[in-house]
Amino acid sequence: MPKLHVITYGCQMNEYDSERAAGLLTQGSEYELTDTPADADLILLNTCAIREKAEEKVFSKLGQLRALKQQNPGLMIGVMGCMAQLQKDAIQKRAPIVDLVFGSPAIARVGELVERVRRERRPILSVGEAPLVKLSTMRARPGLKAFVTVMEGCEKHCTFCVVPVTRGRERSHSPASILGEIRELARAGVREVTLLGQTVNAYGRDLTPPTDLAALLEMVNGIDGIRRIRFVTSNPYNLTSRLIRALRDIPKVCEALHLPLQSGSNRILMLMNRGYTRERYLELIAELRETVPGLALTTDLIVGFPGETDEDFDQTVDMVERVGYEGLFAFRYSRRPGTPAAAMPGQVPEDVKARRNTRVLEVAERVSAAKSRPLEGREMEIMVDGASKRDPRELSGRTRCNRVVNFDGQGKVGVGDVVHVCITQAMPHSLRGALVGEGAHVC
Ligand code: SAH
Ligand code: F3S
Repeated sequence: MPKLHVITYGCQMNEYDSERAAGLLTQGSEYELTDTPADADLILLNTCAIREKAEEKVFSKLGQLRALKQQNPGLMIGVMGCMAQLQKDAIQKRAPIVDLVFGSPAIARVGELVERVRRERRPILSVGEAPLVKLSTMRARPGLKAFVTVMEGCEKHCTFCVVPVTRGRERSHSPASILGEIRELARAGVREVTLLGQTVNAYGRDLTPPTDLAALLEMVNGIDGIRRIRFVTSNPYNLTSRLIRALRDIPKVCEALHLPLQSGSNRILMLMNRGYTRERYLELIAELRETVPGLALTTDLIVGFPGETDEDFDQTVDMVERVGYEGLFAFRYSRRPGTPAAAMPGQVPEDVKARRNTRVLEVAERVSAAKSRPLEGREMEIMVDGASKRDPRELSGRTRCNRVVNFDGQGKVGVGDVVHVCITQAMPHSLRGALVGEGAHVC
């Protein structure tokens, strides 16, 4: 049987898409999966275009794959995902070894596209919009945790971002199709689902009749077998009091929220077209903190957006301290073709971006450490993921706030179990815990 090797770059949505594409190609037994590129007859690269660095990684990988193609001229190479949509011409020019280029809307037709390349013996390009299809093929053994895309695309048009171009209009999947998929995942052993959307908290407003994320979370909460529910990414602009209450009230929904701030300066937020001010963001944080005790907040920041001065950047650092994030991602602004910010004056030199990036990460580290220290001595619920990375004799799990806890399972605890531990030590990137319960540690 011919073999398929899949390489995934980028976000969780891409991981989900790769799984779907692999599922479709292996389902009818056309292909079997291999981990070894040299054994493959078809290699699919699922790509990311969010920053230039992500694109360069793909071109360098394609350069490496050229040698394999020389050894095995029958090898088919496909590029899918966001770069396919944005860089189709550059891919064909810089990497003529590529036989197939297709965007995420065409994943449902991957089998047919591969077949066409084989039959017609010429490169095929399929980019552009297509009807929304919920693909519910999944890996044979999906593990403990799974992503579920609940909506595609984005219509926010933040001036730095290519997603509206690469992933198209905002379209929600129907609750019925999402619930069907999660039930199937639960039957296969999945215990935690993360609902995915570029602006996941805008879910459902395009459906007839319209619905919202809070209603969807309530329905997912009713599915047997699922123990934890998370969702990303929420946009501050669409964050409602109803969703904040859902975070508090729906039992399986974890008390963790990823709420990208991007910048702490009102001037930059305006240039970014984010639709909120730092004051509005702080109001939301106050409401969140008041309503949802123990909530863990994380964020995304961009440093060096065009026109960002030292004062603007200081305002971002100030927000990191004020909000007290448990963790954050800081990105150096990357100029993306076709986006309004790419043409803005005041592009910031790379060395300034690098300096700001280092500084904000230092502050974030300090803030996050200060958040974990008070957890020492507290009892927390964790779901066990498997052996600890540091010490395979120990187990590792995550709290509802998504912090890693390593502990001794004393032979009593298994993967997927939800147990209580007492936090004995807070370290910069993980916690140590002791099992609480009969004959075990008392917190
Ligand atoms: N839908 C999400 C963002 C998806 S992109 C939201 O609403 O925020 C993930 C992150 O990549 C963004 O939050 C942003 O911080 C970063 N990003 C997007 N475009 C970027 C660019 N041109 N340069 C640097 N970082 C960027
Ligand atoms: Fe991008 Fe802004 Fe949408 S960051 S994904 S355009 S909310």
